[in-house]
Amino acid sequence: MAAKIYLTLPCGQKMPGLGLGTFDTNEETEAAVNTALELGYRHIDTAFVYDSENGIGRALNQWISSGKVKREDLFITTKLPMVGVHPDRVEMFMKKSLESLQLDYVDLYLIHFPVGCKLKEGTGWPYLEENGETAVEGKTDHVALWKKMEEQVDAGRTKNIGLSNYNISQITTVLKSARIKPACLQVELNVYLQQRELVDFCKKNGIANVAYFPLVNPSYNNFLTRIGQEPKQMPNLLGDPEVVKIAQKHSKSPAQIVLRFLVQIGVAPIPKSVIRQQLVENISIFDFNLDEGDMKILRGLDKGEPARMARFEIFKGVDKHPDYPFPEE
Ligand SMILES: NC(=O)c1ccc[n+]([C@@H]2O[C@H](COP(=O)([O-])OP(=O)(O)OC[C@H]3O[C@@H](n4cnc5c(N)ncnc54)[C@H](OP(=O)(O)O)[C@@H]3O)[C@@H](O)[C@H]2O)c1
Repeated sequence: MAAKIYLTLPCGQKMPGLGLGTFDTNEETEAAVNTALELGYRHIDTAFVYDSENGIGRALNQWISSGKVKREDLFITTKLPMVGVHPDRVEMFMKKSLESLQLDYVDLYLIHFPVGCKLKEGTGWPYLEENGETAVEGKTDHVALWKKMEEQVDAGRTKNIGLSNYNISQITTVLKSARIKPACLQVELNVYLQQRELVDFCKKNGIANVAYFPLVNPSYNNFLTRIGQEPKQMPNLLGDPEVVKIAQKHSKSPAQIVLRFLVQIGVAPIPKSVIRQQLVENISIFDFNLDEGDMKILRGLDKGEPARMARFEIFKGVDKHPDYPFPEE
């Protein structure tokens, strides 16, 4: 079943209100994207650092060149990596992403994180200084950086530009100088971390919200362990008794309830899965409605800041940078 809800971006383009996440899809990326396209997904989220752009590119190339899908019916997002958060590097990373994705343009290009990291040739991943901390750049020049993002629109490499993991004050800085306003803000957002002030701010400023970690990624600890980091105490949103109760009432799964909640508050979730059954489940959320009673219960499950899981602490020391966007834990 195809996603039937769209968010309209400032340029008038419509973004499907549900997308496919591709963080940590590894060698299963191409197959997952193929399955997702078969099932009607038309919005795909990636990033330079996910290592999924090449697999997505292969799948897209096959679908577009065989005429099974038209390029203009797809909505593809990718992101400038932290090592690209510098005015001199935007164009280079934008071009690298287009090459990997085998596309002439993307629909949305986001600044992945407001902190810039030093670049070592041959890697897109920040490196560590001798003191064990991430090699970061000085304070980000958001105005100069955004100008370079705007140039990517002018050059036809992306239809829209936006931000990810920016806070209200940082978005305000960009808005003040922008010739092309940010079309989208992608942040961690789910039933446990509802970020209402941020969502309202974006609505008032015509910025579409995309939610990452919409399911509070049940596999995040597998990723942390694999890269040698300490596992975290992850809340079990899909096992929350209130979510389970609402799921039973609608004969839906807990994942469908928490995704539908986001759709009904006007936010586009981008759940990741490589499993066909879950891909089916996640897109089958456009044939039912949560009523006001359900919404009230779900709104009441918001835990605020303590529920923030993606604090980017895998990049040791970034929390000391002046552009670190999140409040202290
Ligand atoms: N901008 C940013 O800084 C940022 C940060 C993080 C993520 N993102 C983007 O947001 C996307 C979504 O976030 P995420 O992947 O981290 O977390 P998520 O979508 O909340 O959770 C993904 C996990 O949930 C499992 N899952 C998927 N559907 C399910 C279902 N119906 N029932 C039970 N489990 C299910 C997946 O399992 P399987 O893997 O086994 O299928 C996977 O382990 C990412 O993939 C990425 O594109 C952006």
